[in-house]
Amino acid sequence: ETLDGRPFSRQRLLVVANRLPVSAVRRGEDSWSLEISGGGLVTALLGVKEFEARWIGWAGVNVPDEIGQKALTKALAEKRCIPVFLDEDIVHQYYNGYCNNILWPLFHYLGLPQEDRLATTRSFQSQFLAYKKANQMFADVVNKHYKEGDVVWCHDYHLMFLPKCLKEYNSEMKVGWFLHTPFPSSEIHRTLPSRSDLLRAVLAADLVGFHTYDYARHFVSACTRILGYEGTPEGVENQGRLTRVAAFPIGIDSDRFIRALEVPQVQDHIKELKDTFAGRKVMLGVDRLDMIKGIPQKILAFEKFLEENPDWRDKVVLLQIAVPTRTDVPEYQKLTSQVHEIVGRINGRFGTLTTVPIHHLDRSLDFHALCALYAVTDVTLVTSVRDGMNLVSYEFVACQDSKKGVLILSEFAGAAQSLGAGAILVNPWNITEVAASIGRALNMSPEEREKRHRHNFAHVTTHTAQEWAETFVSELNDTVVEAQLRIRQ
Ligand code: ADP
Ligand code: F6P
Repeated sequence: ETLDGRPFSRQRLLVVANRLPVSAVRRGEDSWSLEISGGGLVTALLGVKEFEARWIGWAGVNVPDEIGQKALTKALAEKRCIPVFLDEDIVHQYYNGYCNNILWPLFHYLGLPQEDRLATTRSFQSQFLAYKKANQMFADVVNKHYKEGDVVWCHDYHLMFLPKCLKEYNSEMKVGWFLHTPFPSSEIHRTLPSRSDLLRAVLAADLVGFHTYDYARHFVSACTRILGYEGTPEGVENQGRLTRVAAFPIGIDSDRFIRALEVPQVQDHIKELKDTFAGRKVMLGVDRLDMIKGIPQKILAFEKFLEENPDWRDKVVLLQIAVPTRTDVPEYQKLTSQVHEIVGRINGRFGTLTTVPIHHLDRSLDFHALCALYAVTDVTLVTSVRDGMNLVSYEFVACQDSKKGVLILSEFAGAAQSLGAGAILVNPWNITEVAASIGRALNMSPEEREKRHRHNFAHVTTHTAQEWAETFVSELNDTVVEAQLRIRQ
């Protein structure tokens, strides 16, 4: 059965992602407990039920000893998860280094870190080597578990070399790769010293998918401009071999959120929250504490709104729930201090002896607490400076069918293309505009809220994670069949 207890059916799918849907915590020499991992990739993939899926990935922990590895492998097998064991040095260079200090900021238009600008620097070179080595380690595990007829679905920027490694093992393997972040303009991608190697490695896949048409177009342009390959309406062609490239916008398991609102424990929690914030409008931010999420911009816009609207000061509260992430990367440590400093200043400025305008929590909420919070919220603020899709905006909409609250959404999130007509779109860098949008959202008429919500709710409940996965896998199957037919002709 699946992680949440439903039966499997259909085609066998090997889902390969850096992070498994569960992260391991060691309790003793051979005992482990497993917790659901965070982030949009896991949220979406947990919503995919109708496949006989096995997950291959890193359990988020260093396990140097054989006893520990054996016990963890067994515990994960019960969840249909297969671990890839990465040692501390690889994690440091591959995950903290190349993935999260180089590719992540670059793909979100934040540029390369200063010290790594030259391909000749030692840290860049060694991190890139570690990245390739880690991808090969994932490929070894996939190859060990692969059976003829399986579909192998590789995920995200951590595993751009994986399609190449897999095809070297077995050119017949059906391999798809999907990117959960933006793919930047080719002019940004071409600044990366290993730009060509990464593109060629991804192109080894049969199907390459992105959240939006724009990201797919940027990828094809990078392949034509940097590699000199041919861009066609189907994808990228080189020496007669086509790699299909297309957009597959992700979604959530909306029913899971809608059903959760009926759970007595959630209803009790909703009532408690309503009592706690009675007489005040609730504004919400839910993010990983990441520089792409525009958390400082969001808080500064809220400050500007309070500054300009003294009447609202005791009538509105901002709840910012920011789960710490990638805490070994210095940029993330700096961001945490920066956010704490701004929140402290604003609370000092506008707080009273009994209330503060911003409740900032550095933690993650469990699923039911999160649903209750979404349901009581009047306005959710998503101010990402770039974001592949942003599923928080989808989750909020799914939980708002009775309240019909307002979504303020960055135009730089992929979700702006799907929820743009129902949300108030903003440029998060324009603090004045975001502050004005807060006022507009808080004062919006019930009729306009209803109309906007209807649009977004219809989208979120029809473009689900299940539909996303089915479309991708069926396109991958078709792509491989078409390629075989082309070869026979
Ligand atoms: P990303 O993949 O960059 O983290 P998304 O918005 O697509 O961004 O997905 C984030 C996922 O993580 C959502 O499912 C959201 O509910 C969850 N999440 C983020 N922050 C928190 C938090 N503070 N508490 C609980 N869940 C969180
Ligand atoms: O694409 C976003 C992403 O990198 C996903 O892989 C994951 O959902 C999320 O960020 C969490 O990041 P991490 O696995 O580094 O904690």
